[in-house]
Amino acid sequence: MKITIIGTGYVGLVTGACLADIGNDVFCLDVDSRKIEILNNGGVPIHEPGLKEVIDRNRAAGRLHFSTDVAAGVAHGDVQFIAVGTPPDDDGSADLQYVVAAARNIGRHMDGFKVIVDKSTVPVGTAERVRHAVTDELKKRGVTHRFSVVSNPEFLKEGAAVEDFTRPDRIVIGSDDDEAGDYAREQMKRLYKPFNRNHERTMYMDVRSAEFTKYAANAMLATRISFMNELANLADRVGADIEAVRRGIGSDPRIGYDFLYAGAGYGGSCFPKDVRALVRTAAEYGCSLRILDAVEAVNDDQKQVLFEKIIARLGNDLTGRTFAVWGLAFKPNTDDMREAPSRPLVAALLGRGASVRAYDPVAADEARRVFANDLKDNPDAHSRLSFANTQAETTAGADALVIVTEWKAFKSPDFNALKRALKTPLIFDGRNLYEPEAMAELKIQYHSIGRPETHLVEAETLYLHHARG
Ligand SMILES: NC(=O)c1ccc[n+]([C@@H]2O[C@H](COP(=O)([O-])OP(=O)(O)OC[C@H]3O[C@@H](n4cnc5c(N)ncnc54)[C@H](O)[C@@H]3O)[C@@H](O)[C@H]2O)c1
Repeated sequence: MKITIIGTGYVGLVTGACLADIGNDVFCLDVDSRKIEILNNGGVPIHEPGLKEVIDRNRAAGRLHFSTDVAAGVAHGDVQFIAVGTPPDDDGSADLQYVVAAARNIGRHMDGFKVIVDKSTVPVGTAERVRHAVTDELKKRGVTHRFSVVSNPEFLKEGAAVEDFTRPDRIVIGSDDDEAGDYAREQMKRLYKPFNRNHERTMYMDVRSAEFTKYAANAMLATRISFMNELANLADRVGADIEAVRRGIGSDPRIGYDFLYAGAGYGGSCFPKDVRALVRTAAEYGCSLRILDAVEAVNDDQKQVLFEKIIARLGNDLTGRTFAVWGLAFKPNTDDMREAPSRPLVAALLGRGASVRAYDPVAADEARRVFANDLKDNPDAHSRLSFANTQAETTAGADALVIVTEWKAFKSPDFNALKRALKTPLIFDGRNLYEPEAMAELKIQYHSIGRPETHLVEAETLYLHHARG
């Protein structure tokens, strides 16, 4: 099939590459000429495991093209996927300007029937806005062409995007109940057939329910995280271990183990903005979503918890101290820094006079760019932030190690080397990577989230400290 993907970011690029990989002829369009240039020079502008191989083999096979040429993009695809960003507006609602711009471009250039697919995460009712934008442009041209707008939200996870796209848990298709909608549904069925070989994964529904489903999924996942984070803070006070509690409740099949990890708060390009946008949609309809209000507030607070543990241990004034920070991306296996918990944490440490030496296996370049912007009004703080090429470079002579992202390479470091490198054997772990008992045996002072803390008492004596008071 001939497919155009409008917006070649995390979702668009993965979608385009994976649809080319099953034999489709795919045209990836973007307004960002830098991104298209990188792709046309054989590079990949984002870090996503396995993606480069899929892109390389499909480009070589002549099935995957990258361009900024809007007219050529609209002419190419019988199916036009809109996969542009939907960032939060000032009031928390999804900013639909890029979606509407993409729809207008389709209306400006289309010359026959098009199936227009909203793959971006968009609020209920967006398909109608897309329809109006296309119709408006067709009217301006004085032409009539038929089209149908389908909702096909994407559920891939950054860091496992290729795997998720090619082996999806479900494929949600929302289409209109009319002749054009029936045709569009058949096209989507044909397109996704190769992903349904093992068993049928596609769910067909009306457009509004499909749009809603994506928000409901992210809101549920964010709720589980905030729920566990809130309980972890209580566990800290009552002397319980949130990891033991997680295993205890996860064993109940009605609850399950996934997405119950306490940590430094959720970030990324989806959960924060999607929770806010759903709350905003509810407000527009005169409803309140009280659970989600709390989910967001708890998450905002949780991003401060690690920092609070640091100043509780080391005092308010961190002038002259150096912190090694491991992990900057909002989660492992991605270079995405959007709403990453590392951002407020690093800013807070610098704000108290500390120096930060940070390391991330893949996000350093993106982090440099992001922090340069975050700290543009505070050059003094910015001058105290540096990026290391290895984990070891960060810890040499540092006052403490702070872990923010759970990269695999951080899970089993050489603790003896770490102790020798650090000024004091002190770790603040925002991802609960290590066992408190093991840290106690190693005589490492260990502060994690919702679990027993190990403290140094007198010279070399350690004990497990359960309650903070
Ligand atoms: N990133 C994820 O993990 C993920 C997962 C599921 C759903 N989503 C949703 O998918 C959508 C895209 O997210 P993303 O992370 O891929 O965003 P992104 O910012 O990585 O990519 C969006 C791309 O669209 C391009 N663009 C903007 N306007 C355009 C236009 N008029 N024509 C052509 N290109 C245009 C931008 O230049 C950018 O390259 C969002 O709605 C997001 O919520 C994202």
